[in-house]
Amino acid sequence: MDHSSQLFALFLLLLPFTQLSESNQYCEAPSGYVGEIGYGVSGSKILIKGGTVVNAHHQEIADVYVEDGIIAAVQPNIKVGDDVTVVDATGKFVMPGGIDPHTHLAMEFMGTETIDDFFSGQAAALAGGTTMHIDFVIPVGGSLSAGFEAYEKKAKIACMDYGFHMAITKWDEVVSREMEIMVKEKGINSFKFFMAYKGSLMINDDLLLEGFKKCKSLGALAMVHAENGDAVFEGQKRIIELGITGPEGHALSRPPVLEGEATARAIRLADFMNTPLYVVHVMSIDAMEEIARARKSGQKVVGEPVVSGLVLDESALWNPDFNIASRYVMSPPIRAAGHGKALQAALSTGVLQLVGTDHCVFNSTQKAFGINDFRKIPNGVNGVWPNISHRLCPIDKHRVGAILVGSDADIIILNPNSSFEISASSHHSRTDTNVYEGRRGKGKVEVTIAGGKIVWQNDELKVTPGIGRYVEMPPFNYLFSGIDKADAKHLSSLRAP
Ligand code: URP
Ligand code: ZN
Ligand code: ZN
Repeated sequence: MDHSSQLFALFLLLLPFTQLSESNQYCEAPSGYVGEIGYGVSGSKILIKGGTVVNAHHQEIADVYVEDGIIAAVQPNIKVGDDVTVVDATGKFVMPGGIDPHTHLAMEFMGTETIDDFFSGQAAALAGGTTMHIDFVIPVGGSLSAGFEAYEKKAKIACMDYGFHMAITKWDEVVSREMEIMVKEKGINSFKFFMAYKGSLMINDDLLLEGFKKCKSLGALAMVHAENGDAVFEGQKRIIELGITGPEGHALSRPPVLEGEATARAIRLADFMNTPLYVVHVMSIDAMEEIARARKSGQKVVGEPVVSGLVLDESALWNPDFNIASRYVMSPPIRAAGHGKALQAALSTGVLQLVGTDHCVFNSTQKAFGINDFRKIPNGVNGVWPNISHRLCPIDKHRVGAILVGSDADIIILNPNSSFEISASSHHSRTDTNVYEGRRGKGKVEVTIAGGKIVWQNDELKVTPGIGRYVEMPPFNYLFSGIDKADAKHLSSLRAP
C-alpha cells in the first residue's frame, strides 16, 4: 500500500479497536538492538509462507512475496530461490503495519522534554507492529519554520516512516504565510489548536477562527485539543485552595464538562466556517456525544480516542504512592470508569473513527516535578508499545489496510495464540514506568517488516538511527469533498446584492 492510500485507509477507520481488559491484553518482548546495516539486516527479498493474509473484507491463506520494499505477489505456494529469506507464518495473521496518528517524541513541554526521542520511540513502535506515526511539531516562539527545522533535526535519528502535524500557538501574518509554506512545500496537512494549557500552548476563539479559515483555504485539516483552558485554570485554583495538591487534583480540576464544552464550541465554530474538524484524544462521554450529534447532522467531524482513554480509568490517580499516581496524569484526564467503555462502543459503531496512542512519556524524575503541586506534573502517558496489539483486536482484524501486490511492504505477522505480560522492564521505551504494567495480553506481533526489511523478529530489533523516511502528506483529503458546493449554496441563500 502506498502512503497516501495508507493514510486514507487510516482515516477510514482502520486501526480500531480492542476490548482491552485485564485478561485479553498483549505482548511481551525483551529489548535489544542489533544490526547496523540499514533498515534491518535481512535481505530485501522475503517470502512470508502460509499465513492468513488479512485484508479489509477478506482473508485467505496465502504466501506473500516481498522484493525491494514492495509486495510483489500474494498467492498460494509461491516458489523462490535460495537468495530469499523465508518466514513461516503458519497459523498466524499477516497484516499491514499500523499507523499511529498521534505521538509526541522529543517534545519540549511543561519545562522538560519527553524522554522517548525519534529513535527510541520509533524502535518501541516497530516492536509493537506500528510502521508509521505522525508526530506534532511544536512551533518555536510561535514560528512554524523554526519549529519545522527543530523537528527536522530531532528526526535525523528516525528509524521508521513518520509524518508531521503542526501546532499553531499564536497568530499574525507571518504565521498565516508560514502555514501556506508548510502545506505547499513541507508536506504538512493538519494543524492542531490547543484550547487548553493556558499560558503556554493555549489559543483563544479569535485565533481558532483565523486558524480554521486558513486551514480551509489550504485544504488542511484543523485539529483541536478540546478543553476549556480558562475554566481549567479556575478549576485548578479551586482545587489547590481546598488543599488538594496530589495527582487526583488533576482529574478534579478539569472534569468532563470542560472537555464537552470545548468540543461543542470547536465543532460549532468549524460548522460556522464550514471546514472539517478532527478532535484529538477524545476522553469523555461528554465530548463523544458532541461528536456523535455533529456527525449525525452531516458535519465532517473525526473523533480520535486514545488507548489510555479506552482502557484505563481515573482510580489510579488516587493511589497514595505519588510515583504510581503521577504516571497517569495526562490531558484531558483519564476519566471515571464508564467513559472508556462508552468510547469503545462509539468506536465500534463508527461514531469515533481511529485510535491514537498520544505517546508522550516522562520518567519518574520528570513526573516528580509536581510532587507538591499536581499542576506541575508533566502531562502524558506511554502507549506506543505494544501499540498495534493495544489498538487492534484479533476479532477486528478485518478492519485494517491491505496486503496487495504493488503496496509498500509494511507488514506484521501476529500470533493470536501467544500471551504475555506488559511491563516497563520490556517495553522498549526509555521511560521507567508503564501505565499498563502487569496486564496480560494475547496476540503478539512476532515479526515487523518495514520498508521491505525485517526490523523485528525473535524479540530483537534490527534498526539503525537515521534510516527513517519523512512522509509528506497532501492537502485536500476526502473530508474536503463537497465543501465548495456547500459554500456556494450558502452564499446564494444570502441573496447579497
Ligand atoms: O497529556 C497529554 N495529552 N500530553 C501530550 C500533549 C497533548 O495535549 O496531546
Ligand atoms: Zn492535546
Ligand atoms: Zn497528544
